Order: sequence, then structure tokens, then C-alpha cells
Amino acid sequence: MRTPFIAANWKMYKTVHEAVVFVKEFRKLVQDVSDVEIVVAPPFTAVHAVAEAARSSNVGVAGQDLHWEREGAFTGAVSAGMLKEAGAEYVIIGHSERRRLFGETDATVNRKLVAAIGAQLTPIVCIGETLDERERNETLPVLDRQIKQGLDGVHADQIAAMVIAYEPVWAIGTGRNATPAQAGEAHAHIRSRLRQWFGGDAAEQCHIIYGGSVKPDNIRELSSLADVDGALVGGASLDVRSFHEIVTRGRRAAV
Ligand code: 13P
Repeated sequence: MRTPFIAANWKMYKTVHEAVVFVKEFRKLVQDVSDVEIVVAPPFTAVHAVAEAARSSNVGVAGQDLHWEREGAFTGAVSAGMLKEAGAEYVIIGHSERRRLFGETDATVNRKLVAAIGAQLTPIVCIGETLDERERNETLPVLDRQIKQGLDGVHADQIAAMVIAYEPVWAIGTGRNATPAQAGEAHAHIRSRLRQWFGGDAAEQCHIIYGGSVKPDNIRELSSLADVDGALVGGASLDVRSFHEIVTRGRRAAV
């Protein structure tokens, strides 16, 4: 049985101060929630302070990206080990904004994934098709390519322990979320590919979460789908009450 997994991706929002204020309030609101894995991903600058503010709580911390090298002359980059030492236990990899705006590819996703696993960070690997790709009926082949190349060489037990976020690019920040039928089809397809390429145990244990305009009023329906194990939430996670509501409503309905 997969515990629902609900993560906040704050993108380039929240100063250290704002992030700490959020977490101090939020951890109290969710202190009795034992049946959801809850994660927040602040900007790099706030990772350490948020990890301190969330210490001894049921709120975990994620980086939003990482570099695959351990250290080196990579201006602006942060390594897996640095994130881990700052208090992160998770890291988002291959978000569509990283792919579109920063030139990330399935190959860089794969290198980052290997680095994250090596540092014992739980990866949250994002995949998903653009509107063009969906309209050309290429959604499933695009997901296949992203899974095959992004997860290349990763062991079945590592697949079992990671999180895949299906985020249709056209649903991110647009207020237009996938219908239950669209999300259900994509999630079922992803799980069947995991079964085919990595085996039944990996497919059953890997969390496949949905991202793209998740709000308090649609989380229940989305997370009631058999293969949707939770959510990666952008805009609606910036407000403490709204994210708390999503966690509360997501927990009852999810697997
Ligand atoms: P929104 O929830 O703002 O659509 O963002 C989704 C997302 O990109 C989460 O990673």
C-alpha cells in the first residue's frame, strides 16, 4: 500500500523569512497527519532554514534541482551532497520549467537522478507532455521516452523508492488541470511501463503523483484515482491554509 505523497513546489517564491513563517505554522496544522508523506521544496536559499524549522516534524524538505557533480567549477549550481547536508531529504528533478527554460534533457535528468540516489536523496522526477505533443497524440510515446532515458540504468529497488510526478506541461500554472480520465490514463500507462521495464515490485511501490493546477477543490477527485498517489502542488501550495487543505483532502481519497 502506497502512502499518499503530497509535495509543495514553491518555485522562485518565498524569502527565507517567508518560508520559515510558513513552516512554523504549517507543521502545527499537520502534526496529527500520519497517513501522508508531506514535503516542501523551497528555493535553495531557504532549504537549510526550512529544514531547521521543520525539524522533528512530519514535514520533509526537498531541493528543486541539483547538479550531478559532487563539486566543481559550476557557477550557480548545488550538489546532492550540499542539499543533503543543508537538511533536504528529497530533490525535484527535470521539472518542465527546468527542461524548457534551462535546457534540461532526459540525459541530464538521468545524471541528476543517479547523483541524487548516490547521496540518499529521494528523487521526485517530473515527466509530462506539452500541449503540442498531446494534440499530436504523442503523450504516451513522450512519457515512454522520458521514462526510458531519464530512468536508464536505475535499479528496480531504486525505482521502488522514488517518486515520479506526472505533470502535463499545459496544466502547469494555467488553472487547467487534466481531467480524471486524462490523468488516470497517463498514470496507468506510467505504472504499466514501470512494470514492464523494472518489474512488478518497483511498479507497485513507486509513487506516481500528479502535478498541474492542483487546488483544494480538485485534489479529492484526482487522488481518488487508482494510480494517482498524491500531488506536486505549485501555486496553491504558497498559502498555508490552501496547502493544508490539499493535504487534508488528499489523504482520505488517495490509495
Ligand atoms: P501549479 O500547481 O501552479 O500548476 O504548478 C504545478 C507544478 O509545476 C508543480 O511542480
